[in-house]
Amino acid sequence: MNKDILKVLVDEETIKSTVRRLADEINTAYKGHSKRLILLGILKGSVVFMGDLMKYVESSIVEIDFMKVSSYGSGTVSRGNINIHLDIQRKDIADCDILVIEDIIDSGRTLSYLVDYLRLKGAKSVKTCTLLDKPSRREVDFTPDFVGLEVPDEFVVGYGLDYDEKYRNLPYIGVLSPEVYC
Ligand code: IMP
Ligand code: MG
Repeated sequence: MNKDILKVLVDEETIKSTVRRLADEINTAYKGHSKRLILLGILKGSVVFMGDLMKYVESSIVEIDFMKVSSYGSGTVSRGNINIHLDIQRKDIADCDILVIEDIIDSGRTLSYLVDYLRLKGAKSVKTCTLLDKPSRREVDFTPDFVGLEVPDEFVVGYGLDYDEKYRNLPYIGVLSPEVYC
């Protein structure tokens, strides 16, 4: 195990079964209801999750796109103000059902902002899917539509999630040793 990881929180097998379950839920929810389903991955944290999830979502209707957003501030604290660095690469999203794919929800501010933003842009529907959720950290009233696993209030890395751009390549999700960032 990586020396900076205090403990493994979600192992590879659990991640796999969680991703399959989420794909099943998504397929059921959109079956016959969508002509164009856009999986909108939020860079960079969602890339590994998105890459696995998309393989099991019904192929005839699904397209992918990405946005890159950040909140002001850095380190292990997420802030309320959202910057858009890369916007969705489509002019007209009026006939698109958008499913935002996120790695983790903490305060809820990023997804809450993005849902409002995409609705204002005119999307037919906007739903959210997150692999991990830290409900105890919520600062705004926000409930995702599809949730992989609830996790405690600890800073986690791996499977796409980073600290200072590192640890994204770990195949499991682990709790980062506080010595790394204290
Ligand atoms: P929110 O806007 O506070 O919900 O923040 C969500 C974003 O904060 C996620 O997309 C992550 O980039 C980041 N984040 C929150 N908690 C963690 C964590 O435990 N590890 C890594 N990134 C996190
Ligand atoms: Mg993120």
